Amino acid sequence: MKNAVMVRVEKLGEGPYASVICYPKPTRAELRKRLRELQKLDVKAVEFGGEKQFSSLSVLGKGCVGIVTKAYRNSEKIALKIRRVDADRTRMQVEARMLEKANAAKVGPRLLGVSKNFLLMQFVDGVLLPSWLDKRVGKALVRRVLRDVLEQCWRLDTVGLDHGELSHALKHIIIDKNDKPFIVDFETASLTRRPSNVTSVCQFIFLSSTVAEKVSKKLDEIDKEAIVGALRRYKNERTRGNFDFVMGVCGLQTM
Ligand SMILES: Nc1ncnc2c1ncn2[C@@H]1O[C@H](COP(=O)(O)OP(=O)(O)OP(=O)(O)O)[C@@H](O)[C@H]1O
Ligand SMILES: [Mg+2]
Repeated sequence: MKNAVMVRVEKLGEGPYASVICYPKPTRAELRKRLRELQKLDVKAVEFGGEKQFSSLSVLGKGCVGIVTKAYRNSEKIALKIRRVDADRTRMQVEARMLEKANAAKVGPRLLGVSKNFLLMQFVDGVLLPSWLDKRVGKALVRRVLRDVLEQCWRLDTVGLDHGELSHALKHIIIDKNDKPFIVDFETASLTRRPSNVTSVCQFIFLSSTVAEKVSKKLDEIDKEAIVGALRRYKNERTRGNFDFVMGVCGLQTM
């Protein structure tokens, strides 16, 4: 990782920074508009630092919709999601509304602000689930973290918010320095789709993915057939009892 570079908002129109703020093609008018938006949101500076390399800079993440960087709102460190100019969304407000709903269920990084092109949220200082599993984390801790992930998914199911990308959540679960898991990116979330957070995340964590392979090495024998059966039961009838049964067959029940 390169050294972090801190850039004040007034300087973001310069050189390589402009192409992050207006990725992939900065124009003077769009840039001016976006810098004004950042000032209105009280963002004072952007910090280029993180795991993802982005031309000569580094950022926290880069996807189809946005680029995520660290930033400062006054002296508070936050995460800033910048809408790509070529994104298939015209504004960030829908994602913000979904994140707000998740927050009400105590899920996701806290929403701190939004405008057409930016979403401000709590900065989660941590690593993505696959890399976290590669660390020398013991069985008890893995179970505690996965139990928390499933509980969060249960709460999302209960409030009727479907995340939409949890069956392939390689980049959507961050574990912070206190081993607290955070589900991120509510951009494809929906309040009208039938919620399938618990079933999708179990599929991802226990049944079929590179993460499932890592998890099965960390935990005791996993009975995949029993998990499939428990998920089917939960899917048919979303009750706490059936959810606890899923937790049980996944080996995550509290002792
Ligand atoms: N609040 C946050 N704190 C720290 N890092 C974050 C935060 N939110 C997102 N990230 C990082 O940025 C990456 C991209 O974020 P996000 O998934 O929201 O963007 P995206 O453009 O929707 O990506 P994709 O197209 O892959 O869905 C995440 O995988 C994660 O590594
Ligand atoms: Mg996304």
